[in-house]
Amino acid sequence: MASTDLWDDLRTTGDPRLRQQGYPSSGMGLLERFQRSSAFWMPHLERNRGNLARLGLQLPARGGTLLVLGAGRLLDVPWQDLFPKFERVVLFDADGGIAPFVERMLARHASPLPAPVFEIGDCTDSVVQVAAWAEHTIQTTPGPDVAARLLEEGLRQADPPAPAWPRAFADVRMAVSTNLLSQLGHFPRLHIQTVFKKRFERRLRAFDRASEALERYFCRVRARHIQALASFAGASAYLSSDVEVWTYALQAASPEVAFKTPLPPDAGVTVDERGRPRFAWPVTLERGLDPLHDQRIRDLWPAGVGLEQPQRWAWHIVPQAREEGYPDYGRIHLVEAWIKTASGRPARVGTG
Ligand SMILES: C[S@@+](CC[C@H](N)C(=O)[O-])C[C@H]1O[C@@H](n2cnc3c(N)ncnc32)[C@H](O)[C@@H]1O
Repeated sequence: MASTDLWDDLRTTGDPRLRQQGYPSSGMGLLERFQRSSAFWMPHLERNRGNLARLGLQLPARGGTLLVLGAGRLLDVPWQDLFPKFERVVLFDADGGIAPFVERMLARHASPLPAPVFEIGDCTDSVVQVAAWAEHTIQTTPGPDVAARLLEEGLRQADPPAPAWPRAFADVRMAVSTNLLSQLGHFPRLHIQTVFKKRFERRLRAFDRASEALERYFCRVRARHIQALASFAGASAYLSSDVEVWTYALQAASPEVAFKTPLPPDAGVTVDERGRPRFAWPVTLERGLDPLHDQRIRDLWPAGVGLEQPQRWAWHIVPQAREEGYPDYGRIHLVEAWIKTASGRPARVGTG
């Protein structure tokens, strides 16, 4: 990690709960992971960038506002092509460290670009608050059974509001949510589970009803997120998210041999006609935890919204033996991308 990146992380200010719940440190972790395995990530990033650049080309003239939710360090956003098309660019993220990073990156660009507006906070207007409430509940309750019951009761009632960002700008022409949907639950889940384990030396997962209430709450959060994206009349919206997690172990060849450069196309992993991962090497495969808890993105778009055929591809996120903790297996995510057309004309939705 460069010292400037570390400095970005250290000087992050704002809502202290964001740091407590791990957003800035995870942003740094993502950057490090990308730097370690960028050749493996590139096909995935290029798919998102290509889709967004294509949407940008459809915009007739310069103007209006671009919203990027979960913008991070813009790894998967073709900012060079997209930003000049807009009067205003608004980058939403819960990690304040992105602002100095992105500002430095844009300053190095040859031609001037609109200076982005940074909105640092929780774009659900809910999960950070709910995680803080859960933490308080855990810390102030004497035993794990009572805490789990209180969590279950509270989470069942937790009703995420419609987020404020769709109403904050009158001239939105494009809204983007890349690699964010599954993350909306990831950080708060991890925080609540960690606090519970630390306090009681028990895993929250052992309490089925509380764990299920937590997951159902995140399902409601994700549904709200997509409803909000769908709500822009006359604007296009782009949503991509991981939808499945798989771990693999290479058979017959060591990673050094199998991953020799040049890498096979798509970093060695494609998606077959049934939507399952297909590897360039012999592997054993195991399905990981479901990042969307049985939700299907296709079911979350309101009826009548104009959608292109969804796309599906594999993101080779952790190549085997490239990271501590992954000596003898690797991990891929299957990603789906959805495009809401600006015209809003209903389109047939099928498997892409
Ligand atoms: C997997 S990263 C993707 C970042 C970016 N799209 C990229 O690829 O460079 C997810 C991003 O969403 C942000 N994020 C997660 N939950 C959020 C929330 N509730 N509100 C705003 N941002 C959030 C994280 O801080 C992180 O930057």
